[in-house]
Amino acid sequence: MEKQMNWSEQEKKNAALEAVKQIKDNQIIGLGTGSTAFYAIQAVGELVKSGMHLQAVATSVHTEELAAELGIKLLKPEEVEVIDITIDGADEFDSALNLIKGGGGALFREKIVASLSKKEIIIADSSKLVNKLGKFKIPVEVVPFGLSYVKQQLEKSGATCYLRKRDDKVFLTDNHNYIIDADFGLLDNPAPLAETLNQIEGVVAHGLFIHLATQVIMGKGDQVVVYAGN
Ligand code: 5RP
Repeated sequence: MEKQMNWSEQEKKNAALEAVKQIKDNQIIGLGTGSTAFYAIQAVGELVKSGMHLQAVATSVHTEELAAELGIKLLKPEEVEVIDITIDGADEFDSALNLIKGGGGALFREKIVASLSKKEIIIADSSKLVNKLGKFKIPVEVVPFGLSYVKQQLEKSGATCYLRKRDDKVFLTDNHNYIIDADFGLLDNPAPLAETLNQIEGVVAHGLFIHLATQVIMGKGDQVVVYAGN
C-alpha cells in the first residue's frame, strides 16, 4: 500500500499541481530546484507524456537530470530570450512576495531563470510564509577567490557568516563557487539589503529575491492559497 504523505509533502504537491495548471501548449518552462519543485517537474513530465509540446530550462544540474529522465526537452539558458512560466520553490516568502531562496544552493541559476521569466510562480508549503524574512539565513554565492573579502563586507553590514559545508567538506555550487549563509536577523526592509549585497565584488548572487515572484501558491491543509503581486 502506498505510504501516506505527511501534511507538508501534501501541501507542496497541491501547490505544485495548482501551478502546473497555468502551463499551456508550446511554452518554455523554467524548472525550479528542491523538494517542492520536484512535484512540479514530475507533473510537467506527465504533460509532456500526454502530448503537450513543452521545452524547459533547468535551474540546477539535479533538475536537469530529473527532467531528462522524464523526457522533458531541455534548452540552454544562454540560448533562451524569454521563459513563459517558471515554477520554483522558496525557503521563505512574505505577503509582499519577497523571497529567500538558495537553501539547495541553486540561487544563481534560479535568479537568472526568474529574471528571464514572464511569470515566476513560487510554490510552497505553509511553513514558508513569514511575517518578516530572515530567520532563514541568506545564502550568498561567492567566487572562491573573493571569500575572505566578501565575508568581511558581509560582517561590516551586520551579518554573522557561516561557510556552507556538506559532509564536512566545503559545499560547491553547480558553478563551482562557495556559499556563505549570512545571518542578518529578521529584516524590516529587505530591498535595501539586497542592493547592498549586489554591490559587493565577488558576490555572484544572493538569495534575496525582490520583485521577482509574480505569484506564490501555498498549500495549506488540503487547500491552496494564492498570493499575487500588484
Ligand atoms: C534551491 C531553492 C529551493 O527552492 C528552496 O531551497 C526550497 O526548497 P524546498 O522546496 O526543498 O523546501 O531555492 O536553491
